[in-house]
Amino acid sequence: MDRLSTILSESLETLKTLLTMHDLDQCRAKYIGKSGLITALMQELKNLPIDEKKEFGAKVNQIKAQFEQAWFNQKELILAKELENKLNNESIDVTLSGRNSALGSLHPISITLSKMLNIFSGLGFDIADGPEIETDYYNFKALNIPDHHPARAMQDTFYTETSNVLRTHTSPIQIRYAQKHKPPIKVIAPGRVYRVDMDATHSPMFHQLEGLWIDKGINFANLKGVIIHFLRLFFANDDLQVRFRASFFPFTEPSAEVDILSKNGKWLEILGCGMVHPNVLRNMGIDSEEYSGFAFGMGIDRFAMLKYNINDLRLMFENDLDFLRQFQGMSGALL
Ligand code: FA5
Ligand code: MG
Repeated sequence: MDRLSTILSESLETLKTLLTMHDLDQCRAKYIGKSGLITALMQELKNLPIDEKKEFGAKVNQIKAQFEQAWFNQKELILAKELENKLNNESIDVTLSGRNSALGSLHPISITLSKMLNIFSGLGFDIADGPEIETDYYNFKALNIPDHHPARAMQDTFYTETSNVLRTHTSPIQIRYAQKHKPPIKVIAPGRVYRVDMDATHSPMFHQLEGLWIDKGINFANLKGVIIHFLRLFFANDDLQVRFRASFFPFTEPSAEVDILSKNGKWLEILGCGMVHPNVLRNMGIDSEEYSGFAFGMGIDRFAMLKYNINDLRLMFENDLDFLRQFQGMSGALL
């Protein structure tokens, strides 16, 4: 009986010191597992004389029950501790200062383009697209640019090894679109264009936005109305002074270049335009006796420079973060 009490008090003392479920499980095995100390006592039972059996058996069962109860209590304690630790470790310190996530910005050319798209969408223009690698036919011939025209010269045009060209303007989209759609046609087409040219106001890759409106009775007054309305909205200036200066493009007749009066009193060229040439209408498969139309092409990068007072076109393509950050928060919204 003394031995039973010793085993019990030892086991209870040990249980109290245990801190992990692993240790707890080992302790359980040590006392009430298959070859545990308390289990072994049960097996001694059969060797005892009949009159001791009853008392001894009852005592062993009682010890076993006490151990199990203590073991269970300790288990609850350990689980509670573990939960508490977990909660403490996972708690959020709201007094810590936050981590900043760097905010990007739209590129000034993207901002400028979406303003342009907004205005022309408002006037009912569709938006079209075309390939950047063009055939000689679409970039030149269909636009009434004859073989000897200086715009074809090697110093202006990038040629591919297969005699295609990197489009030098967005005007070939006019032909592609008009060959697929019947008049009335009212479309704009933005995109990248390429020329062998590089200085503060010229870049070998830049962006243009083409416009084309063909219908019965379209005339130069419609062209002026659309362009002036667009410019005043884009520059958010109802008094903007706009000048149509007679010019020449092989694909329009008459042709004009459009200047605006800058704050320092200088006229700046910003786009080319004109009435679509009858030869071009023919190449589009449109009867020039029945239909007329106008077209225009503007440099998106130039518009961005004017709008945001950028003095060097090359800044647009250098990805200098100090430059780009100045456009943070700006969008293509008009105001
Ligand atoms: C043209 O490219 C004609 N296709 C425009 C046109 C379309 C006229 C439809 C009539 C009818 P031009 O080469 O002038 O024209 O270019 C038009 C605009 O693109 C210029 O006014 C200018 O804003 C811009 N631009 C021209 N070259 C460059 C360059 N190297 N870098 C940046 N912008 C340029
Ligand atoms: Mg020009």
